[in-house]
Amino acid sequence: MRALVFPTAVFLLFSLFTAASVSGNLSFNFYAASCPTAEFIVRNTVRSFSSDDPSIPGKLLRLVFHDCFVEGCDASLMLQGNNTEQSDPANRSVGGFSVIDSAKRVLEVFCPGTVSCADIIALAARDAVEAVGGPVVEIPTGRRDGMVSLASNVRPNIVDTSFTMDEMVKLFSSKGLSLDDLVILSGAHTIGSAHCSSFRDRFQQDSKGRLRLAGNDLDTDYANELMKECGSSSNPSVTVNNDPETSTVFDNQYYRNLLAHKGLFQSDSVLLRDNQTRKLVDDLANDQELFFENWSQSFLKLTTVGVKTEEEGEIRRSCEATNA
Ligand SMILES: *[C@@H]1O[C@H](CO)[C@@H](O)[C@H](O)[C@H]1NC(C)=O
Ligand SMILES: *[C@@H]1O[C@H](CO)[C@@H](O)[C@H](O)[C@H]1NC(C)=O
Ligand SMILES: *[C@@H]1O[C@H](CO)[C@@H](O)[C@H](O)[C@H]1NC(C)=O
Ligand SMILES: *[C@@H]1O[C@H](CO)[C@@H](O)[C@H](O)[C@H]1NC(C)=O
Ligand SMILES: *[C@@H]1O[C@H](CO)[C@@H](O)[C@H](O)[C@H]1NC(C)=O
Repeated sequence: MRALVFPTAVFLLFSLFTAASVSGNLSFNFYAASCPTAEFIVRNTVRSFSSDDPSIPGKLLRLVFHDCFVEGCDASLMLQGNNTEQSDPANRSVGGFSVIDSAKRVLEVFCPGTVSCADIIALAARDAVEAVGGPVVEIPTGRRDGMVSLASNVRPNIVDTSFTMDEMVKLFSSKGLSLDDLVILSGAHTIGSAHCSSFRDRFQQDSKGRLRLAGNDLDTDYANELMKECGSSSNPSVTVNNDPETSTVFDNQYYRNLLAHKGLFQSDSVLLRDNQTRKLVDDLANDQELFFENWSQSFLKLTTVGVKTEEEGEIRRSCEATNA
């Protein structure tokens, strides 16, 4: 627990919310009267799943990005069916659905029809960061669950790991997120793992089918390590850690990796090539408290992208299907 970060986070957030009425009517402790144990139940569920499976925190973080970038933070990613967001092949990196479903089942016992799946996703990502040593962030709740989930909405709205800086900036700004938010939220890659296919573009295959490093952005030893882990294997389920140094801890190691040319994705390495983002990478690599403060604020912005409140959407009974 890093109590130090807590008051700062809370402070940042109030200023954010007075400024941004566009994020609808979310509020702190939205469930104080209707379901006082809501946040406690989500936190316990995340802790219990994470201690059984260390890959869970990274998956929950990925889950909130994909949910919020596509149709806003409205649990559209949880809906099952033909041609829903989940059915897009880009879903392969997403997981942790069972954590959300499990928390929802418990909440339906204690407070039926009250807590949205969208809030559970946002809270679970917040709790996942805390569970692996990251900052404690207070986030407002009151999100409603969406009714629309289309596979065709996925590709145009998520970051592909091969994206250039311009492509990422454009996408982030379409979500109301700044260039600084992009650098700060990329820090999520301090935990989690990735399929080898997601960074294949960093290597070329020679005529004998052997992999060679493409470009000069990657540290040679690191590149060799990656080729060893992925190269000979045609198994698409092989994954490597996003952060080769401290993969199970939420810290600022990601930025130090970038400076050492050990950013796994193309979309990581580009942060070093641009002077403006390079400056922030340097600052964050040098100061973990700064990263935590900045993370708290950018995470808040992420978790309010396109939220639905009040009369919009619904509170699903099960996260997998709309109520109708
Ligand atoms: C927020 O709530 C107030 C008062 O209940 C209402 O007038 C306003 O329209 C709401 N804003 C949004 C964005 O829903
Ligand atoms: C999904 O598609 C399959 C095959 O086209 C069909 O049998 C099934 O009923 C569909 N499911 C839903 C939920 O629409
Ligand atoms: C993700 O997409 C793949 C490929 O379209 C599909 O086979 C798989 O079932 C999807 N996963 C989920 C959880 O829906
Ligand atoms: C970026 O920084 C380098 C080194 O400090 C400098 O030479 C270059 O002119 C800068 N580029 C831009 C576009 O500012
Ligand atoms: C990062 O945190 C510092 C210190 O609180 C603050 O001055 C700066 O504006 C923050 N930057 C962003 C992008 O949040």
